[in-house]
Amino acid sequence: MISFRPANHEDINLLFGWSNDELTRKNSFNDKPIEFETHRFWFEKRINNKQYLILIFNYFKEPCAQVRFEPSKEKKYIVSISIASEFRGKGLASEILKKSVTFFQNSFQNVTLIALIKQENKKSVKIFENAGFKFIKLIKKNNYKIFQYEK
Ligand SMILES: CC(C)(COP(=O)(O)OP(=O)(O)OC[C@H]1O[C@@H](n2cnc3c(N)ncnc32)[C@H](O)[C@@H]1OP(=O)(O)O)[C@@H](O)C(=O)NCCC(=O)NCCS
Repeated sequence: MISFRPANHEDINLLFGWSNDELTRKNSFNDKPIEFETHRFWFEKRINNKQYLILIFNYFKEPCAQVRFEPSKEKKYIVSISIASEFRGKGLASEILKKSVTFFQNSFQNVTLIALIKQENKKSVKIFENAGFKFIKLIKKNNYKIFQYEK
């Protein structure tokens, strides 16, 4: 019932819609609404570069989530997840994250994955721990307290 695929050029509007979801903005490090042109620039950079990976998940054929991998320092990638609001609270997130991590690690070997999670985002902490991430340190970014997890 859960399937996934890498994002393609046609996903620009789907991802734009999700990017301005209220909880997603609240849990990110830039909580201002995103303009479409800003999104287009952001999207084109990622969709045309094999160092970036965006996975789109479907739940019974309905798009329900995205998981993104972004290069950071050498051999390190930042991973993030968001579930579409109507699919939240159904216990899907851990499975989606685990499937994504397995897929990514099969394509990119010997890399470290980093998750940066706002301290109050308890669900996110839970799912990254479920997926085998370990707490590394507490950092401050834009005045937020952030847990850094790695796997
Ligand atoms: C974070 C997010 C991906 C979680 O998805 P979700 O569908 O809401 O969460 P789920 O229903 O799958 O529950 C996730 C886990 O948190 C647990 N949980 C639920 N409420 C909780 C709470 N208040 N405190 C701690 N854990 C909680 C669930 O039991 C579940 O654990 P399990 O898989 O071991 O049973 C989703 O809320 C989201 O997209 N948020 C906006 C974007 C975001 O915050 N992304 C993460 C940035 S690091």
